[in-house]
Amino acid sequence: GEIAVLYGGVGAERDVSIVTGKAVLEALSCDFKVRGIELREASLPKGLDPRESLIFPALHGEFGEDGGLQSLLEKGGFEYSGSDSISSALCMNKAQAKKRADAAGVRGADSMVLSPGEVIDCRAICEKLGRRIVVKPVDGGSSTFLSIVEGAGELQRRLDTLPNRHWLLESFIEGREVSIGILNGLSMGVVEIVPQGGVYDYEHKYTAGKTEYRSPAVLEPDEESMIRHWAETVFAVCGCRDFARVDFRLSDDGPRFLEINTIPGLTAESLLPKSAACRGLSFEDLAVELVSPAVN
Ligand code: DAL
Ligand code: MG
Repeated sequence: GEIAVLYGGVGAERDVSIVTGKAVLEALSCDFKVRGIELREASLPKGLDPRESLIFPALHGEFGEDGGLQSLLEKGGFEYSGSDSISSALCMNKAQAKKRADAAGVRGADSMVLSPGEVIDCRAICEKLGRRIVVKPVDGGSSTFLSIVEGAGELQRRLDTLPNRHWLLESFIEGREVSIGILNGLSMGVVEIVPQGGVYDYEHKYTAGKTEYRSPAVLEPDEESMIRHWAETVFAVCGCRDFARVDFRLSDDGPRFLEINTIPGLTAESLLPKSAACRGLSFEDLAVELVSPAVN
């Protein structure tokens, strides 16, 4: 058989996924028979046979990471790596993942969700969340549509420009930003993210030199063990499988969970490879580990 690496897709992170997919294809080509398939619509590619092809979904966000693809793979009887359709859908929704985490004792930023068409009182929101608020899609990735606003006036102006969808509003947490990879349920190295001037947005995520990474991050031992424990807890209570990446901010009062990504980026700038490198895994080693659940 072969490993079919699916990449591209239909969402806002299509370009990131193409880079992820090509990197994975190259890394796997020494050890496996591989085939890259670029997705251009939200459906399974024609001609894939579950007896012939194991699937690695190198897709981010809409359709690839939100459970839509996984559900088609399950119906088609395919072996694939990563979280199943139910867990993928849960994790794609940051508000739902936060709720699960919170119920397991993993603290996140204070937050609320705005539904399409909801009447909003920005002053009341600022009273609840503080003046500095992060606005992001409940189900977006790579910081698409992310903004940070100061005060009720700016929040109102920002919301007026945004399309109708579900928005997650979170208190901005002052403090260092870190991320940790999970492989087969176990945490790897903690990576600290230091964007050079500005916030860790799309540009800072994917432009070489725009962000400095410290890996492993230098942390107090109890802080580090809490991050590990919480990352593994979120992975477990969200029903994740095989691998993921969990993002936190370090407040004065301890870590705060931001989100869990079930198909983290695997570009040259991406965090999961850096987290794995802390454990001595090269990009090629990591890629082989990521596909191994489908292979075995
Ligand atoms: N959503 C991007 C791909 C990431 O989490 O790395
Ligand atoms: Mg994300």
